[in-house]
Amino acid sequence: MEVLNGKNIVVGITGSIAAYKAAILVRLLTCEKANVKVIMTPLAKQFITPLTMATLSKNPILVDFFNPENGEWNSHVSLGEWADAYLIAPATANTIGKMAGGIADNLLLTTYLSAKCPVFVSPAMDLDMFAHPTTQNNISRLISYGNHIIEPESGELASGLIGKGRMAEPATIVEYLKKYFSSKFTLEGKKIMVTAGGTIEPIDPVRYISNYSSGKMGIALAEELADRGADVTLIKASTSVPVKNGRIKIVDAVSAEKMYVASVNEFSKTDAAVMCAAVADYTPTAISNSKIKKNENEWSLSLKRTKDIAAELGKMKNNQLLVGFALETNDEETNALKKLKEKNLDFIVLNSLNDEGAGFGHDTNKIKIIYRDGTSVEYPLNTKKNLSKDIADAVERNLLNS
Ligand code: C5P
Repeated sequence: MEVLNGKNIVVGITGSIAAYKAAILVRLLTCEKANVKVIMTPLAKQFITPLTMATLSKNPILVDFFNPENGEWNSHVSLGEWADAYLIAPATANTIGKMAGGIADNLLLTTYLSAKCPVFVSPAMDLDMFAHPTTQNNISRLISYGNHIIEPESGELASGLIGKGRMAEPATIVEYLKKYFSSKFTLEGKKIMVTAGGTIEPIDPVRYISNYSSGKMGIALAEELADRGADVTLIKASTSVPVKNGRIKIVDAVSAEKMYVASVNEFSKTDAAVMCAAVADYTPTAISNSKIKKNENEWSLSLKRTKDIAAELGKMKNNQLLVGFALETNDEETNALKKLKEKNLDFIVLNSLNDEGAGFGHDTNKIKIIYRDGTSVEYPLNTKKNLSKDIADAVERNLLNS
C-alpha cells in the first residue's frame, strides 16, 4: 500500500555521523512517492553534502533563513504548513535539547516551532549521551508535547562503543511513517493509563513480599495501545521487561501505596485505565528500618490491607473506561464477574492459573473477556503480544463507541 504517496515530508538533518543514513532515508521516501524537502543544520553540511541531499530529494536544500545570494526568505512558516510530517533524522542530543527548550537558532528549529503536522524524531548519539538524564528528560518533554520518538537501536556506535544510541535504520523509520499514515493510529488523541508488574511491599531493608507477576501482559498492552497512537502512561511496579515504545510515559510505582497515589493522580487525566498490575492485597503494618534478626522463635508478620486501586478508580469514574484483570484458581467466571461489579469495571480480562501456558511469567496466555452484561468472549492460547491486540480491540470498541 502506497500510504506515503503524495505526502509532503520535511526531513531535518542535524550534525551527526548518522547523517549518511539520511541519504538512504530520503531515497526510500522518494521511492514511496513522497514529496521530500530537506533542511540541514549548518553542522550537518560537514557530514553529508547538500548536493547529495538535493539530488536525492529532488529539491533545493534549506539551511539558512535567507538565500545569501539573492536574499530570498526561506519561510519556516510555509514549510511547516506544507508538511504532512516533519521527520528529524538524525536528531542529535543538542537539537533534541533545543527543541525541548524552545531554542530556535536555525531553520530546522524555527520550522519545528512552526510545524502544525506530526513531528517524528529519530535520535542518534553515543550511548552515554542517550542515557544521560538530561537527554532522557528532554525526550520525555518532546513526547509530552505530542512528538513521536523513533527509538534508537542498540549496537556498535561511531565511537566504537556498543550500546543504545544508533539511529533507527532508514527502512525502520519509513515503516514507522507508513504505519502512522495507514490510519493504524486509531487511538490518537486518547489518553490511557496502564498499570503493570507486581508490587513490592518492604518488610525491612533487605526483605519484601511480592508475587510472580512478570509485567509481560501489561507492557505488551501498553505498547500495543501506544502503537495505535494513544498517549499512554505506564504505572509500573516490579518488572524486568523493557519498554520499547519511546512514546510511553513511565511512572515508577513499586509498592501498592505508591501505585495507588500515582494511579489516582493520573486517572482524572485519562480516557481509559487498564489495571493489569498484580497489586498486593496486604502490606506489612510497619517497615523495620534495620534488618530483622533471626532467633530461635517463630516469627509472625503483621499485615494490613492495601487500598484497592481499581475499586477506587471505579468510584471516581466519570465517562471513562475502566478495565480490570482477574487471575483465578477456582470459580473463575463467578469470581471475575463479582470483581467486575464490585470495582465498577467496564470489562474484565480473566486468566486462569489452571490453564497450561496461561498466567504469570509465560510469554503466552489464555483469556476470556467478560462484559458488564455477563456476555463473554473466549480467546485461545496465544502470545501475550497477540492477545494484547485482542484486548486493545476491545478497549478501542468500548472507548470509541461510548
Ligand atoms: O481483587 P483482585 O486483586 O483479584 O482484582 C484484580 C484487579 O484489580 C486487577 O485489575 C488489579 O490490577 C486490580 N487491583 C488493584 N488494586 C488492588 C488490587 C487489585 O488495582 N489493591
